Amino acid sequence: MKQYHVAVIAGDGIGPEVLTEGRKVLRAVAQLAGTFSVSFTEFPWGCEYYLKTGCMMEEDGMEKLKGFDAIYLGAVGYPDVPDHVSLGGLLLKIRRGFDEYINLRPVHLLEGAPCPLKDVAREDIDMIVVRENSEGEYANVGARLYQGTPEEIALQTGVFSRRGTERVIRYAYDLARREKKTLTSISKGNALGYSMVFWDEIFREVGEDYPDVETHSYLVDAASMFFVKDPKRFEVVVTSNLFGDILTDLGAAIAGGMGLAAGANLNPERRFPSMFEPIHGSAPDIAGQGLANPLAAIWSISQMLDFWEERVWAKKILCAMERLLVEKNTLTPDLGGTARTTDVGDAVVRLLEESV
Ligand code: NAD
Ligand code: IPM
Ligand code: MN
Repeated sequence: MKQYHVAVIAGDGIGPEVLTEGRKVLRAVAQLAGTFSVSFTEFPWGCEYYLKTGCMMEEDGMEKLKGFDAIYLGAVGYPDVPDHVSLGGLLLKIRRGFDEYINLRPVHLLEGAPCPLKDVAREDIDMIVVRENSEGEYANVGARLYQGTPEEIALQTGVFSRRGTERVIRYAYDLARREKKTLTSISKGNALGYSMVFWDEIFREVGEDYPDVETHSYLVDAASMFFVKDPKRFEVVVTSNLFGDILTDLGAAIAGGMGLAAGANLNPERRFPSMFEPIHGSAPDIAGQGLANPLAAIWSISQMLDFWEERVWAKKILCAMERLLVEKNTLTPDLGGTARTTDVGDAVVRLLEESV
């Protein structure tokens, strides 16, 4: 029997609450499938750990994570620790250190999920955003100059390498070809005359190898407008790190909210473990009260199964989530219900059991 070993970094705020439900679902799936087993190893890293030790993870933390089949992450960041310290020391360190250069974020309106847009059919919101996840504005190259003087300057440089840009764009073309979908590049060459002009050039160059893929290019400001006004224009989307970050919160807003938005940080070559997480943060405003919606964390379990090529079960989880959303009687407050975080995990497990 196949065995999958999952490293769990529950992290801060609602992270532990939502991951408990995701683990519950994965455990149930393994039992129902009967063809694989899962084990979980917990790592107590995050802001509390930082306040005790001065580090966000153990010194040899990356070494410890290396052998796992997946990393399951809750959320990182809490008011007592500066965000650039907490995120840089854990989440971004893992994305970078394990060369998880693809961030796959579905923006897909499940049946029954609420949508704030008027005149939009459910099928109109069905895209997958491929966000560059290793460089760009997140390379964190920059400087603070002339500190404490009126001439003070902060520089933050976007780093776009040919290798880094080409590989994410090629990944997106391959995905669009496989899924027989259109591919849209979202950039900003009209203002960012180095990085984004380079991006657009590479998008065109790589496209020569994919004459069968229909392509579109949008400026990010116009794309944001069309995400809201006419989301059916977008199928597979490829974009830079920062634009992808922003666009996928907008995507979450049109596809049921932050409680439903999942993301996979992939190292497609499988040289290092990939990491699966809800795209929301630690939500300090609702943490510790059983109010958090765990569906995003559960969706990221579906992405994990997909990455392991356990596609039938990946799909079954999404179907169970859809049934839950349609039934409407076990939803958390963000979706208009009164259910608690744990009720939602229990209900997804029950629906999965009923589906076999
Ligand atoms: P956030 O996503 O934590 O919260 C934004 C809003 O969405 C809040 O009102 C919150 O209650 C709501 N929300 C988020 N997830 C929800 C869920 N599952 N169910 C119901 N409501 C939910 O964003 P923020 O407030 O900007 O950030 C809080 C902290 O999290 C910061 O430290 C930030 O840096 C960090 N953060 C971490 C990650 C990550 O670890 N991947 C992602 C985003 C933000
Ligand atoms: C996300 C988050 C992170 C990002 C932050 C917390 C560093 O917003 O995963 O979307 O910007 O990538
Ligand atoms: Mn984000």
